[in-house]
Amino acid sequence: MKAKQNAKTDALTWIVTGGAGFIGANFIFYMMENYPDERVVCLDKLTYAGNLSTLKSVMEKPNFRFAYLDICDREGVRRLFAEERPDIVVNFAAESHVDRSIETPDVFLNTNILGTSTLIDACREFGISRFHQVSTDEVYGDLPLDRPDLFFTEETPLHTSSPYSASKAGADLLVMAYHRTYGLPVTISRCSNNYGPFHFPEKLIPLMIINALHDKPLPVYGEGVNVRDWLYVEDHCRAIDFIVRHGRVGEVYNVGGHNERRNIDIVRSICRELGKPENLITHVTDRKGHDMRYAIDPSKIQRELGWLPKTNFEDGLKKTIRWYLEHERWWKEIISGEYRNYYEKMYGSRKVIS
Ligand SMILES: NC(=O)c1ccc[n+]([C@@H]2O[C@H](COP(=O)([O-])OP(=O)(O)OC[C@H]3O[C@@H](n4cnc5c(N)ncnc54)[C@H](O)[C@@H]3O)[C@@H](O)[C@H]2O)c1
Repeated sequence: MKAKQNAKTDALTWIVTGGAGFIGANFIFYMMENYPDERVVCLDKLTYAGNLSTLKSVMEKPNFRFAYLDICDREGVRRLFAEERPDIVVNFAAESHVDRSIETPDVFLNTNILGTSTLIDACREFGISRFHQVSTDEVYGDLPLDRPDLFFTEETPLHTSSPYSASKAGADLLVMAYHRTYGLPVTISRCSNNYGPFHFPEKLIPLMIINALHDKPLPVYGEGVNVRDWLYVEDHCRAIDFIVRHGRVGEVYNVGGHNERRNIDIVRSICRELGKPENLITHVTDRKGHDMRYAIDPSKIQRELGWLPKTNFEDGLKKTIRWYLEHERWWKEIISGEYRNYYEKMYGSRKVIS
């Protein structure tokens, strides 16, 4: 891609928002490993879901900077853009948990829609070569369980079910409007459910692994027949990299690996891998408005950009379980609330830009 070069270093500068969260952090690791000459600035507000200890391994690298900032803070965002003059902005920052959106929708509208508007306004003002919005397949709503022939394509109408997905759809529309109205060079990816290292313990796969390790009940919503389409997080990161560097401006790309599983089967696989009895599984009251099935048709990104997932579900789940076994400290700190102290310890003396 033709990109504006950073005047100071002549290397591309990326602002990655939400990089202390699950996918954003994995994306930063992917970037640092594959493009050691490029500069990565992580912008994160460190909500309950953002954990600075996740970024420990990159914190001291000369081509990395952490900026403690809210994407809704217009002045702070302007200052960071003025300092860094980014070439590329990838927006992972979001409130991302559907259950929480049912309790407090306003927080989701604020961060996911207004926060995105703050970023794209800064992109307009300072000029960038690409703004990439990390969206979700949940903007398409759900598919019936009895029609396995149906998949979400990029042309599927937006049809949201939860305040979370409605806020993500709102952001997508705004991003596209900035492309059409102001010519902002944007792309959007809509990915299926991710899993892998550093996944926050409230989400299905890590929750079940951690509960099973403690021989605690494994709470499954309803009958557990809801189907999700799972992708190993590193494959999502590679897809975003492909889209930003080679994707067509103004386009949406669906990302998924044709890996549909019922929730109950995921939980059973985790029990099997960990040698735990299935009688730990308990069925609890279903989520309000629970989507039945998500299934992505990823043929556009495969055809146009040659992207294919590298990790199949069985291997990915084994790797993920092994990671949680080997990184007990990371998730124990989160569960105990200790990770909040980590910020003070690691970052208290550093420059805070807002
Ligand atoms: N997890 C999935 O399966 C999945 C699938 C498809 C798309 N997505 C999208 O990918 C993105 C990342 O998801 P995730 O699972 O890593 O989320 P996450 O909840 O693990 O992380 C979100 C990060 O954003 C930060 N953040 C939240 N509000 C902020 C604000 N106002 N300003 C700055 N930073 C803020 C948090 O501190 C955290 O570090 C989200 O936009 C989500 O919608 C997620």
